Amino acid sequence: MSEQIINPIQLNNQIQARRTFAIISHPDAGKTTLTEKLLLYGNAIHLAGSVRARRNQRAATSDWMQMERERGISITSTVLQFPYEGRIINLLDTPGHQDFSEDTYRTLMAADCAVMVLDAAKGVEEQTVKLFEVCRRRGIPIFTFINKMDRPALDPLELLDEVENVLGMQPVPMNWPIGDGPSFMGVFDRQTEQVHLYDRTARNQTISPEQITTMDDPRIQAGLSDAQYEDLLLNIGLMDELAEFDEAAFLREEQTMVYFGSALTNFGVQLFLDDFIKYAPPPAAYHSDAGVIDPVSNGFSGFVFKIQANMDPRHRDSVAFLRICSGRFERNTQVKHPRTGKPLKLSRTYTFFADSREVVDEAYAGDIIGLPGNREFQIGDTISSQGGFRFDPIPRFPAEHFARLINLDISKQKQFLKGLHQLETEGAMQVLYETDAARRDPILGVVGVLQFEVVQARLAGEYNVKTKLEPLPHQLARWVEGPADIIDKLPWRYGMMRTQDVDGRLVALFSTPHELKYYSEKYPELRFEAITT
Ligand code: G4P
Repeated sequence: MSEQIINPIQLNNQIQARRTFAIISHPDAGKTTLTEKLLLYGNAIHLAGSVRARRNQRAATSDWMQMERERGISITSTVLQFPYEGRIINLLDTPGHQDFSEDTYRTLMAADCAVMVLDAAKGVEEQTVKLFEVCRRRGIPIFTFINKMDRPALDPLELLDEVENVLGMQPVPMNWPIGDGPSFMGVFDRQTEQVHLYDRTARNQTISPEQITTMDDPRIQAGLSDAQYEDLLLNIGLMDELAEFDEAAFLREEQTMVYFGSALTNFGVQLFLDDFIKYAPPPAAYHSDAGVIDPVSNGFSGFVFKIQANMDPRHRDSVAFLRICSGRFERNTQVKHPRTGKPLKLSRTYTFFADSREVVDEAYAGDIIGLPGNREFQIGDTISSQGGFRFDPIPRFPAEHFARLINLDISKQKQFLKGLHQLETEGAMQVLYETDAARRDPILGVVGVLQFEVVQARLAGEYNVKTKLEPLPHQLARWVEGPADIIDKLPWRYGMMRTQDVDGRLVALFSTPHELKYYSEKYPELRFEAITT
């Protein structure tokens, strides 16, 4: 079936059925656990633990992944697709470690909404704020899942206050927790006014039905102290005075729907998933230099938001991940190369479940497909059947850590440069060279220091090049533009480093934000633009 003859109603139905989202959280809040439980409740897996197990299996396949396992973090994102209640869910799994936040940022560009997981004992943490800001910039709605209610938690009102004050969104509790930690009994569902009782004996690998009752069930009062019970009644009464849920305000990111639960013990996951299906938006239109691209009325188009090389070290292939923004993709579709304009046939395309991949013959706006072996793609590339427009660029983030990378075996210089080029294409780091210096060792700029180790481990594992890292004291890099005589007045000899990027543009490395501020004020003729990884 070709794109021209697909029934427009079918096309619309397929696209409207897609729900594409990412889970954001501070490390350890429970993102992996909630992912697993959503897959469990979505019937995509039958035993929780398998995603983690797969990760560990995958981790054993290369040194680089070995690093992921040793550190107990997830470095790479995976895309998980599963059908649920007539919808096709695309879950963009994002790395949680703060050092890998840039990869997460890019992944959020491909999501239509986000689920923010908070640890009930910790509230809104640093990394959550950063990720939240990216969601806000992108304008996607956010669900909040307050996790670990089976452990001692902060007061629910305090948690809601924090969401409101720190993130500036009006939290609307969709359910209310009854007790916490050892006294956690379940949640009161505001919509149905029913109480879902927490079953302390339920184990967490399979689904167990929740017991449903009402607030006048004597077990509730019996399970709480008098003060707790009074507080609960007060809070439930108070909730009606708190914000009313307003779907339009949620979609505008002014409100966030809040759910309390415990992912580890499966509690509250079903309630959350049922609402998610109801309120998560279908694929949104994306902006381009030719205006807004509607997901339904345009032909096939998408953009590359992630490139990952050597997912399978045996094949040494590189996979470009494409978010489909409009229309229907079919295998063997002819597209135009985003930069050369040459026709290109997309014949090898995959969809992913954890680390296993399947050939995909067709996919729709909202879906993510992987294009393996296409090293010609770059992050941010627009790929479309008709051509003629480019999606807005993916925002990039300024590097904050810098170090010289020294190749320890000069006979491997060719591989060293090839590896550096590949890793830079993937957006792993920014490569700079000191100008007018005898040393030609590249300077790497990264958002998080762990990226240095990934670059070194991958150069060793994939290109057989051993390297040494010499950290630099600089904290900021700026492209400098302006009259050459003024540029020469900058204190290049005294701490500020003069470098250039791979395109030959002048880049100044500053040691402190204060230094940058001082020289920007002293030389208003110069422009200092943040360079990005
Ligand atoms: P992350 O992806 O956000 O980093 O968090 P992850 O799901 O890995 O969870 C971090 C830790 O918190 C894990 O414990 C996990 O079992 C635990 N956890 C997640 N949800 C809940 C919950 O609802 N209640 C309780 N009590 N704990 C929860 P771990 O000991 O680090 O790992 P593991 O030994 O369980 O694998």
